[in-house]
Amino acid sequence: MRNNGMIDLRSDTVTKPSPEMRRAIYQAEVGDDYYDDDPTVHALEEKAAERLGKEAALLVLSGTMGNLISLMALTRPGQSIVLAEGSHIHLNEGGGLARIAGLTPRTVSAPRGLITPEAVGAAMLSTSPLNPLTSLVCVENTNNAAGGCVVSVEAIDSLCIFAHERGIKVHMDGARLFNAAVALGVPAARIVEKVNSVTFCLTKGLACPVGAIVAGDADFIAEARLCRQTVGGGMRQAGIFAAAGLVALDSMVERLVEDHENARLLGNILSEAELPITVEQAETNMVYLEVPESVMPARVFVQRLGEAGVIVNPPKGRRMRMVTHYGIDRDDVIEAAARIVRCLNGPAPI
Ligand SMILES: Cc1ncc(COP(=O)(O)O)c(C=O)c1O
Repeated sequence: MRNNGMIDLRSDTVTKPSPEMRRAIYQAEVGDDYYDDDPTVHALEEKAAERLGKEAALLVLSGTMGNLISLMALTRPGQSIVLAEGSHIHLNEGGGLARIAGLTPRTVSAPRGLITPEAVGAAMLSTSPLNPLTSLVCVENTNNAAGGCVVSVEAIDSLCIFAHERGIKVHMDGARLFNAAVALGVPAARIVEKVNSVTFCLTKGLACPVGAIVAGDADFIAEARLCRQTVGGGMRQAGIFAAAGLVALDSMVERLVEDHENARLLGNILSEAELPITVEQAETNMVYLEVPESVMPARVFVQRLGEAGVIVNPPKGRRMRMVTHYGIDRDDVIEAAARIVRCLNGPAPI
């Protein structure tokens, strides 16, 4: 599935819709979703809610929008939320939590994506009028910056029990929730059983062109619908892309296993090649590498990879991410690994 010999490992968002999705998009029955009138949107929202074991679901335009409106619906401006310091909501969503939702972030360290009840206990602010009251904890699963790590059901359950006993709600940024479900071998509904709200993306491993889903109880979804309107997310004939979402839930979830196997294969080949780099083993569809400065600057390595036909995002510090997805097969992974080895073994950069 390579594109002109290029192997694109930047993200699982670079996928193209499957032929079945394109057919479904073409044939989609649509209405005006603004008037709650689009049958394909209804079908997707119902299917998603059922799949997650939640009362209701709402189609939104992106994971970022889903997270933002969840925060807005579950909190009041002037409150605080606890979340991981490296989390997507904290660092990669344009500061919407502060700028739009009016929230103060209380960040905690979350090794391998895990936010412990103890960390929440230490970060949460009391009901003193001096404090922005802590009303929400956000947990990311899988956890992107931590390496595509999966947070266990037990860890999420105990976090929720701790938070709920203190009147604090829990939102899950499950942009890659189905990767977590496949990796844990449990239904997605079990992972999110105790959280108040969850967002998952249709555009990551599930390969849709647009969209994300927010799910929770019916009151939360009613409030989230108002918040979606506030941020300009009211939609018209959204059945056009909801149709792809229906195909994704039926046919793209189980295949995530292949992405995980391919990521593991890439990690294994690179580890076994005994290269002068650190390879973080994949738990799901991401492999993180670190190239020591003494070997070559990370940005030079990324540039060399690009010249060799392996595209990755600019490094963060010395760390770089490689993501497997619907557009990458086993042969691509083997070829990418060979190119990576060649880039590292080539002449030293000037
Ligand atoms: C963990 C996580 N949450 C949320 C998002 C936001 O999704 P979107 O790009 O659809 O806004 C991303 C996107 O990469 C992500 O990785």
